[in-house]
Amino acid sequence: MSAPAAVRVAAPAKVNLRLCILAREADGYHGLETVFCALALADEVTVRRGAPGLRLSVEGDVDTGPPERNLARRAAERFHAALGEAPALDVVLRKAIPSSAGMGGGSSDAAAVLRALDRLHGSPFSRAELLQMAIELGADVPFFLGGSALALAWGRGERLLPLPPLPSRPVLVGHPGEAMPTADAFRAVAEARGGPYRPVASALPAEALASWEGVAGIACNDFEPAVFARIPVLARAVDALAAAGATVARMAGSGSSVYGVFPDAAARDAAEAPLRALGMRTWRTETLSAEPVAEVDPPVALG
Ligand code: C5P
Repeated sequence: MSAPAAVRVAAPAKVNLRLCILAREADGYHGLETVFCALALADEVTVRRGAPGLRLSVEGDVDTGPPERNLARRAAERFHAALGEAPALDVVLRKAIPSSAGMGGGSSDAAAVLRALDRLHGSPFSRAELLQMAIELGADVPFFLGGSALALAWGRGERLLPLPPLPSRPVLVGHPGEAMPTADAFRAVAEARGGPYRPVASALPAEALASWEGVAGIACNDFEPAVFARIPVLARAVDALAAAGATVARMAGSGSSVYGVFPDAAARDAAEAPLRALGMRTWRTETLSAEPVAEVDPPVALG
């Protein structure tokens, strides 16, 4: 395989169509059962061979936090540590996914960096090795490493069953402008439980993941009661999405964005006004029915 000079990949957002929080394990982390669904709303990640060192630049009106803690930078560092080579690299993130939204923006950027670097270096690692780097970076990163736009996941998100994608459906996302840190969300759920997790028997029928009608029957998010208590507008937003015809209306991840999956674009677009009336920012997008493909050495100038 020839060695390209630059690789550009789309880093899609996700929502969790189902998110069950299971028992707290000895290390303090909770086991999860979740269904990830990728969205067309995406950041764009470009990696380009450059002078010695690792330079990260971020474009777009999205707060990505301190650059040294950026997950995309850490992904590049992790990849080069495994490679045993110092980086000589420019990484450009063109942000579109809102931050502090539960939509996996940082995780998706990190996975995109791993995918792009793997391509840039002629695939030096096995899939298992890349997955291991991904889970060390964060719980949502393995899903974004690719393979499927829809997947069932367990553990912290590292045990994945890729599913046949569903037909693309219009999605409206709303964000209240207020963040819910992941650790606070888990703590709030643990406090609300007031004791150890008691197993809840549940069987997930395979056909529930084979159609949007099936998904509507199993969609849930165990974070919602605790997070809605802190950010009450989210409950009203989910009600507004359902009233506007969303077949799935939920919070994304641990918040604080909410989303609705609609049968058609007109219904989605009509849901924008009620969410804005609640003071929310909105994004129109749709679910992905295929994973985006990397562009290698694109003929147009990158960045
Ligand atoms: O993964 P991240 O470091 O963002 O998680 C922040 C905190 O959320 C963890 O320190 C842990 O307390 C909690 N958490 C959890 N179970 C998970 C993921 C995170 O309890 N599966």
